[in-house]
Amino acid sequence: MEKLMISGGRPLRGTVQISGAKNSAVALIPASLMAESKVVLDNMPDLSDVATFGEIVAELGGQVEWDGSSMQINPSNLISVPMHNGLVKKLRASYYLMGALLGRFGTATIGMPGGCAFEPRPIDQHIKGFEALGATVSMDHGSIHIEARELRGAKIYLDVVSVGATINIMLAASRAKGTTTIENAAKEPEIIDVATLLNAMGAKIKGAGTETIRIEGVDSLHGCRHSIIPDRIQAGTYMILAAATRGDILIDNVIPKHLEALSAKLLEMGVEVLEGDESIRVIGRPSYESVDVRTLVYPGFATDLQSQMTSLLTQATGVSIITDYVYSNRFKHVPELIRLGAKIRVEGRSAVIEGSQLNAAAVRAADLRAGAALVIAGLTVSNGVTEVSGVEYIDRGYDNLVHNLRQLGADVWRQAE
Ligand code: EPU
Repeated sequence: MEKLMISGGRPLRGTVQISGAKNSAVALIPASLMAESKVVLDNMPDLSDVATFGEIVAELGGQVEWDGSSMQINPSNLISVPMHNGLVKKLRASYYLMGALLGRFGTATIGMPGGCAFEPRPIDQHIKGFEALGATVSMDHGSIHIEARELRGAKIYLDVVSVGATINIMLAASRAKGTTTIENAAKEPEIIDVATLLNAMGAKIKGAGTETIRIEGVDSLHGCRHSIIPDRIQAGTYMILAAATRGDILIDNVIPKHLEALSAKLLEMGVEVLEGDESIRVIGRPSYESVDVRTLVYPGFATDLQSQMTSLLTQATGVSIITDYVYSNRFKHVPELIRLGAKIRVEGRSAVIEGSQLNAAAVRAADLRAGAALVIAGLTVSNGVTEVSGVEYIDRGYDNLVHNLRQLGADVWRQAE
């Protein structure tokens, strides 16, 4: 195990390149498994979750080869072996194997997914979707077993707007007989990315990115080449970092529209945000106004930027309130930020943040985005070295973090715990 050592207090300046999106990558890999021939995924981020998925593909009999950041997946000899434990427990997105294997083979047995456990994360809407398509779902020694003699298109209304359920149903429905309609679908850019890949593989999906998605099932899917969209959460994290350290960062290889909710909040605080075609430049200011933030499903303010934004709001004058309407209890970063001197109290699903000066301390990341929040906070501290343990969580979602931070002028290093 390693920890991240941060000697902060310097304004970060320079350019950072954003890699492919983690939450797309972990859905695109299982989607690729539905093809009968080779799929090449370009712009793949270098993350531990991606490496784990590569091992899962191998366990299922698929072949993975790398050419730089291009992942070549040959799923022609794949089989739907039960995956009760082990690798599938390491990441949340292993739930996409359910939709992919069900669609391709009519059967899937997958252990309950792992990943960041900041609160209970049910998958009832995924199961509702599979059942509507004609599958039977049962629990078998802590694993979910899903089986269908034939998948049939259906009209599915999601009771909760869910990224995972929307993608999982799209996967299975791509191979169902007839047409499936998903109503109240999630609209995140990652859903459009998965639909784009599936369509390139021969699927017939319309409406991805809107609340109604129509999927006409096809008899088979084939290989193709696809480039992954930029990681909007990684980009947003660097935007917040530029503001928090009063720096000046050009965030390159992004789709600025994906970050509109964050850009608007930063502008409201008094941060300078300059949008280019595929870049965003964020310039910090000596002082910021407090703001209130509500996380919502896309295109609202992303819950995956809530903890990082909480760190930034400790640098604003006055009291800010950040309310998470996606997850009611995603506040594991708060006690750690308090250790660093932040004045925050959690009230229901809100964090009430009073501007304050932070001090160096040893803190622990309890999940991926909480870890990012602590790194941001540590980089604002000028009176000593902040130690962030639990780096393995941060490695799940931030490609080349230490290298990128150093390029921007940060004094950070990894050290054995
Ligand atoms: N929900 C249900 N039932 C379901 C599914 C979801 O009640 O069957 C609820 C959840 O409890 C939550 C809300 O619906 O309150 C939204 O959850 P969603 O299903 O959209 O989340 P997810 O698909 O499990 C993905 C990302 C998360 C991100 C959320 C929300 C991946 C692998 N994960 O999770 O990313 O927070 O969407 O945008 O795509 C992260 O990157 O740090 C991360 C946690």
